[in-house]
Amino acid sequence: MIPSVLPTYNRAPLSFVKGEGIWLIEADGRRFLDLGAGIAVNALGHAHPALVDAITRQAQNLWHVSNLYRIPEQQALADRLVAASFADTVFFTNSGTESCELAVKMARKYWFDKGQPQKTDIITFEGSFHGRSAAGIAAAGSEKMTKGFGPLLPGFMHLPWNDPDALRAAITDTVGAILIEPVQGEGGIRPLSDQQLKDIRALCDAHDLLLILDEVQCGVGRSGRLFAHEWAGITPDIMMVAKGIGGGFPLGAVLATEDAASGMTAGTHGSTYGGNPLACAVGCAVMDIVATPDFLADVNRKAGQLRQALEGLVASHPDTFEEVRGVGLMLGLKCRKTNSDVVNAAYEAEVITVPAADNVIRLLPPLNISADEIAEAITRLDRAATSLEAA
Ligand SMILES: Cc1ncc(COP(=O)(O)O)c(C=O)c1O
Repeated sequence: MIPSVLPTYNRAPLSFVKGEGIWLIEADGRRFLDLGAGIAVNALGHAHPALVDAITRQAQNLWHVSNLYRIPEQQALADRLVAASFADTVFFTNSGTESCELAVKMARKYWFDKGQPQKTDIITFEGSFHGRSAAGIAAAGSEKMTKGFGPLLPGFMHLPWNDPDALRAAITDTVGAILIEPVQGEGGIRPLSDQQLKDIRALCDAHDLLLILDEVQCGVGRSGRLFAHEWAGITPDIMMVAKGIGGGFPLGAVLATEDAASGMTAGTHGSTYGGNPLACAVGCAVMDIVATPDFLADVNRKAGQLRQALEGLVASHPDTFEEVRGVGLMLGLKCRKTNSDVVNAAYEAEVITVPAADNVIRLLPPLNISADEIAEAITRLDRAATSLEAA
């Protein structure tokens, strides 16, 4: 008989009942060190007092009103994002995949309105992940995500990751945009170098293409900058955001330049929930903490400590781990043993990691992880690797 929860996940036998900072507490009382943060969602850990306060205050006033009306909390969050980024304008969604839907629509409408309606194709890359909507799976294009779900939304060209010649060769007069993650998350923590990102921006400029960056996983401080593309000193035309921006409350956004967004006039897009007062009150509280130089400097400090400690872990366990990769607090351990076995051994050691493609385990801790928590994480990961090697 089918379970009452549609069985689209292979769930670990863990039920968490409470979260406190980096800790997740299991129904049986065990305390797990959470290096997954809900897959890069709980940017400030669990039950951060400023977020609890923001959501409680908003919940006592007003949870939801339609986008038929002005929403002060939404305006405030849009103003913060515009002030802190390349963007001139923001549309709020509830998830990364909804941000993908709008990014695709925005790019196509842009070229339609510019009198070049043939420029509907969007170049995407092997290993990418843009969500599970019809546009998201068509954009990623992998057999794993698309098999059985056809006919797929047309207009995506899938290129190999990091193959500049293939990219140049693919640009024709039907291509309107390039969509790419500055750091692939699900694809196995694969960062683009600053130079690669600069080259892609230059290619977009040379061929009159929109650059859409998917910063759903790598954005909102995770890379050590507010947005990962800032390291390369470039800006996109359109950017997808979600996960960390809500700190655990479902919230996403599409940020865009005035020009890129010019086709999205009244009536061209909408959302019942996107940008509602509750979500945006939390989003403002997240931005007030994360989008500050001191906080980001601390993320970089902690990222350096964690990375160094992980290099030591890899050196001590060459049969389990191959290398550390990633940026900021978006780190991956490429495994020699099967990554799911490592994740399971880590559960036994009461530390949470997240598997990714390319036999990688992801470490995406809360951005406010402390030095002591980093040390404890390494102790637990060491225990997991030791027990796996003894098995
Ligand atoms: C880079 C990227 N884009 C899009 C998504 C989809 O986001 P959501 O699951 O919120 O729809 C994800 C989710 O993991 C992601 O990592």
